[in-house]
Amino acid sequence: MFDLWWRRGVIYQIYPRSFQDSNDDGVGDLDGIRCRLDYLHWLGVDAIWISPIYPSPMADFGYDVADYCGVAPIFGTLPQFDALIEEAHGLGLKVILDFVPNHTSDQHPWFVESRSSRSAGKRDWYIWRDPRPDGSPPNNWVSNFGGSAWTFDAPTQQYYYHAFLEQQPDLNWRNRDVREAMYAALRFWLDRGVDGFRVDVMWHLIKDAQFRDNPPNPAYQEGRPEIERFLQLYSADQPEVHDVVEEMRGVLDRYPERVLIGEIYLPLERLMAYYGKDSSGAHLPFNFQLIFASWSARTLTTMIRDYEAALPEGGWPNWVLGNHDQHRLASRIGLEQARVAAMLLLTLRGTPTIYYGDEIGMTDVAIPPEAAQDPWELREPGLGLGRDPERAPMQWDDGPGAGFTRGRPWLPLAATYRECNVARMKADANSLLRLYRDLIRLRRQRSALSLGGFRLLGEFPDLLAYERFDSKERLQVFLNFSAAENAIVVEKDLIGGKLLVSTAGDRNAGLADRIKEGLLALRGGEGVVIAPS
Ligand code: NOJ
Repeated sequence: MFDLWWRRGVIYQIYPRSFQDSNDDGVGDLDGIRCRLDYLHWLGVDAIWISPIYPSPMADFGYDVADYCGVAPIFGTLPQFDALIEEAHGLGLKVILDFVPNHTSDQHPWFVESRSSRSAGKRDWYIWRDPRPDGSPPNNWVSNFGGSAWTFDAPTQQYYYHAFLEQQPDLNWRNRDVREAMYAALRFWLDRGVDGFRVDVMWHLIKDAQFRDNPPNPAYQEGRPEIERFLQLYSADQPEVHDVVEEMRGVLDRYPERVLIGEIYLPLERLMAYYGKDSSGAHLPFNFQLIFASWSARTLTTMIRDYEAALPEGGWPNWVLGNHDQHRLASRIGLEQARVAAMLLLTLRGTPTIYYGDEIGMTDVAIPPEAAQDPWELREPGLGLGRDPERAPMQWDDGPGAGFTRGRPWLPLAATYRECNVARMKADANSLLRLYRDLIRLRRQRSALSLGGFRLLGEFPDLLAYERFDSKERLQVFLNFSAAENAIVVEKDLIGGKLLVSTAGDRNAGLADRIKEGLLALRGGEGVVIAPS
């Protein structure tokens, strides 16, 4: 079946610590999310993806899991999770969980057992290697958060491998028992009604069987993160990873309409491999190109064309503008272009993912060094790598705590929250929030947008122009990347057409005074969706 919810729908990412606090401890929680479901329903999204909620010492804020089948007390309880899922489903919202299979917490009972002795039953569940003859780590692999990726365990005289913090030991996915235990965890949540998973660092799961040194990166520049000193040739993206992804997919396929999303930061052709042979892999290998591409019409035109062309047969596209690891969209490209970005995200072909708060134009929040929480910032300070700025609390209203908490928020609130908040922007028909809502609605109403084909209308300076079409209709999208007015030659049948949505506020307007001598006029930073007559 082609018309599946995860193809048609819009995904909304919730970072649970920062969405809504219900018990005044300054940290968001499951009951908080539940209370805000009516907002998400109003916004019109189809699914929520919730970053990890499992029991965890929180060394990496939940990406260090100590129990795959539970809920961290700071977020709530399993019954509260069940209530959330029931209410979400009642509103027609799907629920996607974050699954973190590459590593556990060092407090996970599996690792506690694994490190207890060399002959422990679960020794091989993690990656243990002897030191080199001089006592140094087994190879040159670097942690993604800086420093060696190997930590020496004195009692057993071996090193264990961790692609991230030393509190996040990597599981050995070449071990069959590990795979079975992890698939059982997936089934635990699927049986509770979870609609899919976003799989953390999917491309990391299998490492080189010989643990060869990574080659140096000739393009490395001082001041960049240490992980970039080497090309990650042997520590990730090994061919055998695709068998694992296929097995995970097999677990999900026993349930109807579940979605498998992969978090994968790789160049295009390697990313495409994660769709799997004959679409047997991830349904949606996350496509992060909009986050990294320079924000110009030329670059994006080429990037979109190349991505569309690289998709394997049957591979469904997807687009992401932001997440909890990347600087905020509005800080990267400015508030005016954030509107153009919203229109782009919601009119391109493929499943869009919105990061919480981007719909109100939240910007990075400056975090004074003494308030820093993110382990990456603490380990490689001052380089701008910290991820706290994009994880600040959601801005709901202009009251104390921004409506997020009645306690002391775990990260500082944006200084601008009194102006930039949901309550205020809901009431303003011209706000970015209302633009998101209108575009999501339009996408739902027009199958050409949600499921239809895609065709670039050419290449233009400062303008991106494309058409979405299906057997019923065609729509055209024009996006002005410049702050100056712009104009584009359009087909004749556009003159009698209708402007459905403009980022500048116009809705369902005629085009007669916009088109002069075959030229469609666009304001600076304006994007429009048009239905030809
Ligand atoms: C990717 C997650 O998105 C990030 O937040 C986390 O630190 C690493 N994986 C490690 O799990």
